[in-house]
Amino acid sequence: MQKREKIVAANWKMNCLRDEAGKLAMEVSAMVLDEIRNDVRIILAPPVIYLSYVDGLVHENKKIELAAQNCAAEKSGAFTGEISAAMIRSAGAKYVIIGHSERRILFYEKDVLLAKKVNTAIGNELNVIFCCGETIDERSGNTHFKVVEQQLEIGLFHLDESNLKKCCIAYEPVWAIGTGATATPAQAQEMHLYIRGLIRKKFNPKTADSVSILYGGSCNENNASELFSLPDVDGGLIGGASLKARSFVNIIKAI
Ligand code: PGA
Repeated sequence: MQKREKIVAANWKMNCLRDEAGKLAMEVSAMVLDEIRNDVRIILAPPVIYLSYVDGLVHENKKIELAAQNCAAEKSGAFTGEISAAMIRSAGAKYVIIGHSERRILFYEKDVLLAKKVNTAIGNELNVIFCCGETIDERSGNTHFKVVEQQLEIGLFHLDESNLKKCCIAYEPVWAIGTGATATPAQAQEMHLYIRGLIRKKFNPKTADSVSILYGGSCNENNASELFSLPDVDGGLIGGASLKARSFVNIIKAI
């Protein structure tokens, strides 16, 4: 089996004013340089307005990459308030998070729109962190596998193999996000294995073995090492716990 890339990404969401974002980025960067010896891709996703600023602060740190939390589906033009993939790239980010459940639920972003965003992102040389995950009702109704399958089928699996390899998948059960209710290791492993099986069926075993699948949803420094030790969990997408440099770096160390 091919060795998959380990990834720990910080999703700062709509938090931090400029100075706070700068301080957090610098603290993380310093701790990473001091403490992280293992081969792990570390990604920070600050609010997009601070991307260039944070890029200036961490640019010299080759262990850290930047991501945007969203991007426009359209390339450019009369789309007031939108931020294009090319702008994100030119601000220093190499990644973009697409399909986060907060975008899906609060901003009504549907699978077809997300597929378009994925295409625009890849067309502008951004790597994609594609989020999927079920709500609590969907899990109680035992439709969680179907829901995740549909999200991936429409939003991501239209790509060809070479472009799929520019993506990683973040499984984030909606009921675990920001709630303190983490998926159990068994639940996380079961879904990650299922997702890998979908890639195997749709593409091939080699591709399935090469795509990193991250877990997200109340991942913190206490539960990270158990989650990261699961065979199909290749890292994490961290919300709340990424807002404190110490906690975030401890999570990175857990990989
Ligand atoms: P959380 O958020 O770690 O605060 O649960 C994760 C996410 O939404 O990406």
